[in-house]
Amino acid sequence: LKIAESDISFKRKPVIIIVVGMAGSGKTTFLHRLVCHTLSSNIRGYVLNLDPAVTTLPFGANIDIRDTVRYKEVMKEYNLGPNGGILTSLNLFATKFDEVISVIERRADQLDYVLVDTPGQIEIFTWSASGAIITEAFASTFPTVIAYVVDTPRSANPVTFMSNMLYACSILYKTRLPLVLVFNKVDVAKHEFALEWMEDFEAFQAAIETDSSYTSTLTRSLSLVLDEFYKNLKSVGVSAVSGTGMEAFFSAIEASAEEYMENY
Ligand code: GTP
Repeated sequence: LKIAESDISFKRKPVIIIVVGMAGSGKTTFLHRLVCHTLSSNIRGYVLNLDPAVTTLPFGANIDIRDTVRYKEVMKEYNLGPNGGILTSLNLFATKFDEVISVIERRADQLDYVLVDTPGQIEIFTWSASGAIITEAFASTFPTVIAYVVDTPRSANPVTFMSNMLYACSILYKTRLPLVLVFNKVDVAKHEFALEWMEDFEAFQAAIETDSSYTSTLTRSLSLVLDEFYKNLKSVGVSAVSGTGMEAFFSAIEASAEEYMENY
C-alpha cells in the first residue's frame, strides 16, 4: 500500500507505538517511563490502555478499555475464565475501534505519539482476531510501530533468548510492521550479549550448543531464520526503572516511522 505524496504530511503524525512483550517483561513499567519521558521532554503523547484486567495503572490513560468494557462482568455473563474474559473484552472493544481512531484523528495535529499498552498475556493480543483488527486499523491510518519488550536478564539463557526472538519474529512477519526490540532491565543485566548473538551467528551457535535440550540440526535451522530476521529490526537497551535508553528508543521509533512511510 503506497501513500500518495499529498497524504504524507497528514499521515506523518502521530506515530502509534504498540507495546507488546511476554508477561513480566516490564511493559507497564516501560509505558510509565515513556509517559514520564514525554511529559518532561515536551513530547506530545496520548495513552491507550487495552488491558481490561489491569487493576491499577501507574499512569493516566487518555483512552481506557476499562471505561467501556467491564472485564469481570464479561467473565460472569459469558461464563469465562480469566483469559477468555480478557479476549472477549478485547473483541467487544474492537467492534468500536473506529471510534478510537476518530478520536485520535481529531487530535492528530496536537500529538506526536500514541502509546498503546496491551494485555499481560502477549498471545491475547498478537494471536487474536481483535488484536489483528486493532493493529490493522492503526496501521491503515497512522505510522505504526511495534515495540517488543524483552526481559534482558531472563534472556541471558540462549534457549530462552531464541524462544523470545522466534516470538518477536512471528509478530514481525504477521503484522509486517517495523519492530523495535526493547531490551529492558539493563540496570540488572546489560544487553551486549544479545547484540553479539544477533550480529555474530557463530557466537550464538557456540552459546546454544552448551544447552543439550535442542537438537543441533533444529538449532542451526532456527538460528539461520533468526539471522535473516535480525536484519529487519532495530534494537535498543533500556531500563524502565532507571530511565536509561529513552533517547535511543525514540530515535529507533523515528527511524521505524520513516521505514513505515517508505514501505506501507
Ligand atoms: P504483566 O502486564 O503483568 O504481564 O507485566 P508487565 O510486562 O507489564 O511487567 P511489569 O511492568 O508489571 O513489570 C514486571 C516486573 O519487572 C515488576 O516487578 C517491575 O518492577 C520489574 N521491572 C520492570 N522494568 C524493570 C527494569 O527496567 N528494571 C528492573 N530492575 N525491574 C524492572
